Amino acid sequence: MPSPLKLLLVAGARPNFMKIAPVIHAIRANNTACNGTGRKIDFRLVHTGQHYDEKMSGVFFQELGIPAPDDNLEVGSGSHAAQTANIMLAFEPVCLREKPDWVVVVGDVNSTLACTLVAAKLGIPVAHIEAGLRSYDRGMPEELNRLVTDSLADLLLTPSADGDDNLRREGVADEKIRCVGNVMIDSLVAQLKQADATDTLERLALEPLHFVYVTLHRPSNVDTRENLQVIVNALAELSGKWTVVLPIHPRTRGRMAEFGLSFDAHPGVRLLEPLGYLDSLNLTRHARFLLTDSGGLQEESTYFRTPCLTLRPNTERPITIELGSNRLTTIASLRDDIATLLAGPERLGQTPPLWDGRTAERIVTELLASAR
Ligand code: UD1
Repeated sequence: MPSPLKLLLVAGARPNFMKIAPVIHAIRANNTACNGTGRKIDFRLVHTGQHYDEKMSGVFFQELGIPAPDDNLEVGSGSHAAQTANIMLAFEPVCLREKPDWVVVVGDVNSTLACTLVAAKLGIPVAHIEAGLRSYDRGMPEELNRLVTDSLADLLLTPSADGDDNLRREGVADEKIRCVGNVMIDSLVAQLKQADATDTLERLALEPLHFVYVTLHRPSNVDTRENLQVIVNALAELSGKWTVVLPIHPRTRGRMAEFGLSFDAHPGVRLLEPLGYLDSLNLTRHARFLLTDSGGLQEESTYFRTPCLTLRPNTERPITIELGSNRLTTIASLRDDIATLLAGPERLGQTPPLWDGRTAERIVTELLASAR
């Protein structure tokens, strides 16, 4: 019988957890199905600790059925350089100790970049899940993370064909690229029943299609007083007509306090702590529309066909606009864009190809096939 393939799976920040969970479930399914004939996979899960609050991390492990990490690097917050360097310093000894066949990273956060760099320098092959996405905006920290990760990775697992095109344009060899679909949608599909059984709307006293779900945390939106002030004013105005549900990211909460901004005079804005996965799915499914700068919510709203306004000048997920329910907006055009959206259908767009809940299965197949 062949020796097991050994993987180090890396997750660090909130948007990583719904991408790593389906991979773990698919590995377990592979190991059960091999019955002593096929090749098994041994994995260890490394949590870098980039996100560490219960509401930014723990709740996702529990809801998505992710096992406790084998290693928690507990790096916490810091400047980009400090956080990236701390992850690298803590991850290197894990690689040296474990000697994996592959390091598997997901998404585009600082943990993704840091662990890729460590593995590449040690000569350990890297597989990148959600490869090939590009906003072509180097002012975004995630774009730099994506560029470096993809240029070092050995297996580039893309969510959609635009990712393949981006990589080819950058000179990545065809044999490294595999279009496997959107792994985040695997988590969504797997958790739909659980989400249905969760009383999110009742608990928050919301009526389907009578509220707007808002999340904002990008540095470009919340890190300067001028931008955040304009956004706060726009949400306050929107809350005159609509219940605005705003689970607030710690970064945004911190900036609002720092800039002396609040929604105290606007009870139509329901300021909440960060929500778990199932609550967020329910809000996305039942909102009249979303206003967000998140990457993941652009995709989840596309799956549910819920109209989404993305408050950014660009997106690395163009398929959510071409096929899905997503549109870009700006502070200046927000009012008009909301009016246009409300004049349109309550649900729109279609689900892109390979957003079928079986991406992790394809990822495991590719990892086994690419094993050296
Ligand atoms: C990170 C990712 C971003 C992703 C976002 C989702 C990078 C460069 N950015 O941004 O791509 O969309 O996660 O949340 O990797 N904090 C807490 N508790 C936590 C984590 C963070 O209070 O559990 C606070 C800290 O004050 C920290 C700040 O939030 O300084 C920002 O956290 P950080 O991980 O640096 O970046 P995010 O803005 O969360």
